[in-house]
Amino acid sequence: MITGIDALAFAGPAGYLDMSDLACARGVDPAKYLNGLGQRRMAIATPCEDTVTMAVDAGARALAGFDVDPAEIGTLIVGTETGVDHSKPVAVYVHELLKLDQRCRTFETKHACYGAMAGLTASMDWIASGRARGRKALVIASDIARYGLNTPGEPTQGAGAVAMIVSEKPRLLGIDPSRIGDYTRQVMDFWRPLYSKYAFADGHYSIQCYLDALVGARADAVGECVDLLDSLAACLYHVPFVKMAFKAHQRQLEIEHGGVVSRDHNESWQVLKDSYQRLVAPWLSLNADIGNIYTGSLFLTLIDLLRQQASALAGREVSLFSYGSGCGATFCIGRIIDGAERWRGALDPSAQLQARRRLSIDEYEALVHASETSDSLEALDPASFGLHGGVYYTGTRDHCRQYTHA
Ligand code: CAA
Repeated sequence: MITGIDALAFAGPAGYLDMSDLACARGVDPAKYLNGLGQRRMAIATPCEDTVTMAVDAGARALAGFDVDPAEIGTLIVGTETGVDHSKPVAVYVHELLKLDQRCRTFETKHACYGAMAGLTASMDWIASGRARGRKALVIASDIARYGLNTPGEPTQGAGAVAMIVSEKPRLLGIDPSRIGDYTRQVMDFWRPLYSKYAFADGHYSIQCYLDALVGARADAVGECVDLLDSLAACLYHVPFVKMAFKAHQRQLEIEHGGVVSRDHNESWQVLKDSYQRLVAPWLSLNADIGNIYTGSLFLTLIDLLRQQASALAGREVSLFSYGSGCGATFCIGRIIDGAERWRGALDPSAQLQARRRLSIDEYEALVHASETSDSLEALDPASFGLHGGVYYTGTRDHCRQYTHA
């Protein structure tokens, strides 16, 4: 049985910050953010847009866009680093707001940016076990990446959700259960203590941990295989910032070449640049426009690939690498399903992104400060942030979060 991804949809906040504006405000050469990190824009959430509302928006788009009846969903998993309660899962709010059946298993997974991949593979296991009885799983990655003003992590923020429907007859991507590899190691590279809205990161160390995890998870998935890249149509990575995908691809090439690939070796550097242009770079434009969405960022690259090349690459294999700080990782191989191009309209978030509003630095900083206290405010008005036509967080009354169609 080939299980995998049957539907995919993105949803994100209505506002974004241009990276050149941020660079100018911070006195940094814009080339550092644009070329050094590879980012163009980053999505910024208002206090009324949280992990729940973005997950509901993405989930509704996946269900409607791919003609899936909510009654078919037998498992709902929300992978997130940005939960809204220490106890109550984001998933149970989403379950109510999407009007899913009560005969549905619902829970939240947390492992930094890895939660959605954990949900995806758990859903595949649920289907393969026979327990699904023909039903589908809805797995939603939803996060707001917050590092705080004037920190090194600030240009690597973002916000958004990706919803995936997982089924035994996937219409987009089949995943080979015999080539899924895992990696776990306790490291302090990125974390967010219970008392903090902002992540702490040992930035350069986190890059090293990511690359070590890639080596470990890949070896678990495909062993000592040294010509994997030749057989692939694309390599999809977790993308905290676009340049990270280049570093990851460099490491994969080093594994296959059995030595260092660096600028100092002209020939190997050219091979890397060509391979990156062919297998990685074409699918990074959504990440560059949205920023780091933690659990969903790997799946944004998959949306980007499918909206552009589903027809040309039908039947071809791609690799997927998910990394969650702390750390946990999975490397796996998927195959693009014949006919996936039919769903291009449902997948493509271009219209949403074009409708976003460019925020000024003052507006962005005001939203950051407003979000610090929004969990305890009694009444929030989405219209005051220019929001309408969706489900929004409207404040906490008697310690209960309120979600309203506005
Ligand atoms: N023009 C062009 N490029 C420039 C430049 C300029 N004027 N100035 C600097 N650069 C380049 C640098 O050379 C560097 O590129 P290379 O890595 O290829 O050498 C790049 O811009 C970044 O410069 P720095 O390393 O000096 O940047 P920094 O020290 O300010 O921090 C960071 C970068 C560590 C990524 C920081 O933004 C950070 O801590 N981010 C959060 C942590 C993170 O994203 N970690 C990723 C791995 S962990 C993970 O993946 C989980 C997750 O989602 C968080």
